[in-house]
Amino acid sequence: MTGGQSTINTTRLVAVTLLLSGPAGIVLLGLAASGRLAPLWAGIGWAASALGVALLVRPHLDSLNAMARWIRSLSHGGEAGPPPGHDDTALAETVAAVGSLRRLWLQKSAELSESARWNETLLDNLPDPLLLLAPGRRVVRANQAARRLFGRELSGRDLAAFLRDPGLLEAVEAVLGASATARECEFTLPVPVERTFTARVDALEGQSSDGGTLLLTLHDLTAIKRMERMRADFVANASHELRTPLAALSGFIETLQGPAHDDEEARDKFLGIMGEQAGRMSRLVADLLSLSRIELNEHTLPSERVDLGRLLATAAEVLKPLAQAKAMTITVSPGATPVVVTGQPDELAQLFQNLMDNAVKYGRDGTTVEVTAATAETVPSAAGTALRGGPVFRIVIRDRGEGIARQHLPRLTERFYRVDTARSRKMGGTGLGLAIVKHIVNRHRGLLTIDSEEGEGSTFTVWLPAAPQ
Ligand SMILES: Nc1ncnc2c1ncn2[C@@H]1O[C@H](COP(=O)(O)OP(=O)(O)O)[C@@H](O)[C@H]1O
Ligand SMILES: [Mg+2]
Repeated sequence: MTGGQSTINTTRLVAVTLLLSGPAGIVLLGLAASGRLAPLWAGIGWAASALGVALLVRPHLDSLNAMARWIRSLSHGGEAGPPPGHDDTALAETVAAVGSLRRLWLQKSAELSESARWNETLLDNLPDPLLLLAPGRRVVRANQAARRLFGRELSGRDLAAFLRDPGLLEAVEAVLGASATARECEFTLPVPVERTFTARVDALEGQSSDGGTLLLTLHDLTAIKRMERMRADFVANASHELRTPLAALSGFIETLQGPAHDDEEARDKFLGIMGEQAGRMSRLVADLLSLSRIELNEHTLPSERVDLGRLLATAAEVLKPLAQAKAMTITVSPGATPVVVTGQPDELAQLFQNLMDNAVKYGRDGTTVEVTAATAETVPSAAGTALRGGPVFRIVIRDRGEGIARQHLPRLTERFYRVDTARSRKMGGTGLGLAIVKHIVNRHRGLLTIDSEEGEGSTFTVWLPAAPQ
C-alpha cells in the first residue's frame, strides 16, 4: 500500500514538475537554438528550474495525499485521529469542513440509533401483542407481549406455525393480497387456558426497512368476556332465586282462594309456609341491595375508628338465639391490645355476623364457635400493600362442622355459589353471605382466607390493617 502510494507520489511529482518547468525549458531551448546561450548552460538552467519547482511542489503534494488518506479512513468508519497538519489555508479549511461534516454525521447517527432504541422500548412496553409481517406471512418483528403470549422467538417464522385460526389467517391473506387495507376478527387460543382476542390487521403505507408490510395487533378480551358472562349469570341466578319463592307464594294463594278456602287447618299451615317464603324473598332482596351498595363504595376508603372487640361481642349476642336453638355457644376472645381498625361499623358488623351465622348454621349441634381477635405476627403472601405497610389484626372464626371440600374453597365467595344448594336454602341462606363478606373485606383493604378440614370444621380468617395510633 505504502509502496504503491509512493510510486504514485513520485509519478505525480515528476509530472507536475515537468508541467510547471515546461515554459522555462522552452525559453532556454529557444535561447540555445538562436545561439545566444550555450546548450550546456541551457540544460543546466532548465535542470535547476525543474529542481526548484520540484522542491516547492513536493510538500503540497504530500499534504494533499495525507488529507486524502485521512478522509478515506474517516469514510471507512475508522478513528478520526489528528487531521494532517500543514499551513496551507485552503487545505486547512477543507480539513476543518470535513471534520465538522463528520461530527454532524456522528451526532445524527447517534440520535437515530437512540430514537430507534426508544421505539423498540416503546413497542416492547405495549401491553398488547404486536407483530410486523412481511409477504408470505413471515414475522419480521414481534414485541415482548407477543413473544410472551406465544412463548418463543417469533422473528422469521410463518404466522401459521404458531397461530392457526383460519379466520385470522384469511384476514391476513386478504390484507397481504391487497384486497383489503384493514380487517378485524376474533379468535380463541385454547391452551394453556382458553383466551379470547380481537385481532386487527392493518396494511402499512409502504414497506419497513426489514420488509414488513402488515401490522397485526392483538387485544385480550378474556376478562371482559368473563365479566359479561358473570353479569348475565348473576341476573339469571338472582331472577331464579326470586322466582322460586314467588311461584310458591302464588301457588298457595291460588289454593287458598280455591280448594282450601274453608279449610282452617290447611290455611294455617299454608300461611306459615307463605310467611317463610316471603321472608326468604326479603332476605334475598336485602342481600342484593347490600351487595350493590358495598360494590358502589368499594373504591372509597372508610374513615371511622371501629373497636372490633365490642363489635364482635355484639355480633355474637345477635346470633345467640340461633346458636342456642342448636345447643351451640359462641366464645369471643379479643386480644390483650384493643383491636381498633379504620372502617365502616355497619359493614364490619355485617361481615362478622355473616361469618358467625355460617359457623352456627354449618356447625354441628352442641359445638362451640370460637372467635378470636389479635395482632398478626405475619401476613399471608396474598396480602396487598395496605396489609404489608403496618400492624395487622387477625380475626378468626372457627367452627366444628362438616367442613368444606378443598375444590369448593376458591369459589365460595362467588355470588350464589353453594356447596349444597338445597341445604343452604333449607337453612334460609341466600348464597350471597360470603360474596358480601369478600366485598366488605376488599373495601377495608383487608384479606379473607379460608381453611377447612372435612369432618373437622372450617376456619375463616379476616386480616385487617390496624387503625393508625
Ligand atoms: N362455616 C362453614 N362451614 C361449612 N360450609 C360453609 C361455611 N360457610 C360457608 N359455607 C359454604 O359456603 C356456601 C356459601 O356461603 P354463603 O355465601 O354465606 O351462603 P349461604 O350461607 O347463604 O348459603 C354455603 O352455602 C356453604 O355451602
Ligand atoms: Mg351465609
